[in-house]
Amino acid sequence: KPNHHQHQSGATPEQKPLSCPSLSTRRELYERDFPLYKQPVEVGCFSLDAERRFFNDSRQMRYFVEPDRNPNFDLRDGYKGRYVKRDDSVREKLDHILRWIVANRSKLDSSATTASSRALDVDFVTWRGHLTKLLTTPYETREGWLLAVTRFSGTLYISEVETEAAQRERDNRTERHEEMMYWGYKFEQYTCADNPDSLPDPSGVVNTNEAFCTVVQTRLADHRLLFSGEVDCRDKDPDAPAPPACYVELKTSAEICTPKQRSNLHRFKLLKWWAQSFLPGVPRVVAGFRDHEGVVVSMETFHISKISHLIKNEYNCWKPTVCMNFCSDFMSFVKHMATEDNPR
Ligand code: A3P
Ligand code: MG
Ligand code: MG
Repeated sequence: KPNHHQHQSGATPEQKPLSCPSLSTRRELYERDFPLYKQPVEVGCFSLDAERRFFNDSRQMRYFVEPDRNPNFDLRDGYKGRYVKRDDSVREKLDHILRWIVANRSKLDSSATTASSRALDVDFVTWRGHLTKLLTTPYETREGWLLAVTRFSGTLYISEVETEAAQRERDNRTERHEEMMYWGYKFEQYTCADNPDSLPDPSGVVNTNEAFCTVVQTRLADHRLLFSGEVDCRDKDPDAPAPPACYVELKTSAEICTPKQRSNLHRFKLLKWWAQSFLPGVPRVVAGFRDHEGVVVSMETFHISKISHLIKNEYNCWKPTVCMNFCSDFMSFVKHMATEDNPR
């Protein structure tokens, strides 16, 4: 952008206009070797209850109960009468993660760090959902995003700011869209139990305030990351691998009837599903396919490690390496730009 302020204040012509540093989102620029991405390690978890209150424990953990191959889940059931919707106009920012950090400082400090040193041993703190948006940016043509960053004691905190377009969309959702947003949560209720040895209870209330969140630490290239993400459920087998390897991500999607629809799932939906689960090291996505009336008619499991092979035959398809390299370069860019440490 031209620097209008300089012109208004009568800057001399020999002064260079301030250039606006930028980072390209063009896919071709990120097609290189896959960057280092360390196996994410769960360093803790927290829960948000029916009133969205924070608890420094796993009380909201749910257990996956494998449904029939051809279930008949009615996702519309309970929309009128057994649905408590989270108030999505409340801006939670990074608050829950910060609460977790404050309560778990001792777990995070490396042996070299003294108790008096207030610095965290990581470069970035953020939500997994914000990272998902970064990963998919080179392929996202419709939705923009706005992220805010501040540097505090050497750590960069990244939080999302809702764009005007996103707010308009949120304010103008159709009744059909509102109902379809419920379907995903209703599917979770059909497939999750509150205890390892109990069964799902579809007669209960769906309350979208409730959440179980994992907190993981990992490294992307030379960026040390600490982030949290909501986890739908875990394998109920007590001998299942340790978190995050025992976690299961649940998804719903429209029933697939044609090769074109299968191709679209691979080219567009699997990108989002892969990015969301790959980041925290969740190994599988269990999808329920529903018809137009909101009835789940079939199930399919997608293993995150196999998705890159699954999509290889699609024309003009997304590439995991582009997603990860863009994210890595974005983080280098942020480190370069947000240089002033600011406790305010
Ligand atoms: P589906 O995943 O079956 O679409 P998540 O899968 O990330 O755990 O999210 C659970 C559900 O929340 C989704 O189920 C969907 O119903 C709803 N949801 C999540 N993100 C959404 C968004 N951006 N817009 C609308 N609904 C969303
Ligand atoms: Mg979820
Ligand atoms: Mg889900």
